[in-house]
Amino acid sequence: MAVDVILGLQWGDEGKGKIVDHLAKKYDIVARFQGGPNAGHTLKFDGKKFVLHTIPSGVFRPNLLNLIGNGVVIDPTILKREIDGLDQAGVIFKDRLLISKKAHLIMPTHTLLDAASEAAKGKAKIGSTLKGIGPTYMDKTGRNGLRIGDIFSSNFKARYHALRNKHLNLLRVYPPIDIADLAEREKVWFDSLESLKSLQFVNGEYYINQAIKDGKKVLAEGAQGAMLDVDFGTYPFVTSSSTLTAGVCIGLGIAPSKIGEVIGITKAYCTRVGGGPFPTELNDEVGEKLRRLGAEFGATTGRPRRCGWMDLPALKYAIMVGGITQICITKIDILDEFEEIRVATHYEYDEEKHEEIPYDLVNTVEPIYKSYPGWNTSLDHVKEYDQFPKEAKEYIIALEELIGVPVTLISTGPEREKLVYKN
Ligand code: GDP
Ligand code: IMO
Ligand code: MG
Repeated sequence: MAVDVILGLQWGDEGKGKIVDHLAKKYDIVARFQGGPNAGHTLKFDGKKFVLHTIPSGVFRPNLLNLIGNGVVIDPTILKREIDGLDQAGVIFKDRLLISKKAHLIMPTHTLLDAASEAAKGKAKIGSTLKGIGPTYMDKTGRNGLRIGDIFSSNFKARYHALRNKHLNLLRVYPPIDIADLAEREKVWFDSLESLKSLQFVNGEYYINQAIKDGKKVLAEGAQGAMLDVDFGTYPFVTSSSTLTAGVCIGLGIAPSKIGEVIGITKAYCTRVGGGPFPTELNDEVGEKLRRLGAEFGATTGRPRRCGWMDLPALKYAIMVGGITQICITKIDILDEFEEIRVATHYEYDEEKHEEIPYDLVNTVEPIYKSYPGWNTSLDHVKEYDQFPKEAKEYIIALEELIGVPVTLISTGPEREKLVYKN
């Protein structure tokens, strides 16, 4: 059996959690392969709302296994809080949650380094979620990191303290930040780690490859989005992991030949949270309307998301580097009240019209738009593709033709069941 993949194609928050939760019923295992608690995946069903940061979005489907892969970075304090939240909500899941021993640990001093690095950048800051993601992946690739499988070894505390002291020395190169609560944070961190010891730790790469051999169906759940990928995103305004299909192989331990369908998710418009280039951003009342109707506020940090029109040069690029085989459009209902819907089909730079995004996207391009009529009616009743108003279908078909990949799923609301299959 192949591993199907869900990826965000923009700057994150495309609705991955909702789509994974919906599709999970067709799978045996859902696996996260990169990122960490910088992610915030929102799920809504039976009148309830959950935001997951580290735990895969298959957790609410009975009988389904959820694997946190080796490519994920884990903050024990946040994971413990997430687990407690699910416990309080009466979700029975611990026998269905597996953690790869090779997943790296985010230490309290990683989050301090993240904060100090951002503060030192001043106006040029990345707008990190300040969850310690960058410093943890730096320690991983720098071959200094601690992995969750290490917590059972007798020298774990000594290794922790050696790395923590190194971090405190590193902090001296930055303008001073407040570290007064470090001891308290470390206590909570160690207490959380202790309680996580009762979870199931596995050699994730053996586990997943055996499952594939046994004919199990696996869905890999991406975090962040293509334009935040450390190699192909809007560097340096990116996250520190590979958010694309290649990240699935690295972050789970499977070969590229095991990849099946790659479902790319895009909102019907575009958002970004944090700093960095965003060519189609709307700093006007239209952008404000998208933010208001789309409730565009970060699921992890609560920050207002920057809003703008669909950006096809960026989307086509994401489809190319991600090897996308199908598209899911989310939040199309947010466009219900717009007279006109715009889509950037090209960029203008160097006094010419281009379809490609340039090496340096920072303030160098002017989007060229195509305009489509809005449908000016609620999509609330739409359960099948044929029930979409004519203008909505025209918008979907136009996008499909422009990007050259089939649109197979259209999400019309945040709730689990609000998903329309096309074809
Ligand atoms: P993720 O990080 O990709 O999982 O996305 P987030 O959860 O951060 O943000 C997506 C937001 O949009 C959440 O509040 C979802 O509940 C909501 N959402 C997802 N799909 C739809 C949709 O089709 N319509 C509407 N109105 N909201 C949606
Ligand atoms: P999900 O999985 C949206 C952004 C941050 C910042 C940059 C780097 O919910 O789609 P980091 O904390 O990784 O060092 O931040 O990336 N970012 C996200 N934006 N959704 C996310 O995750 C994000 N994870 C990181 O805002 O600009
Ligand atoms: Mg999110």
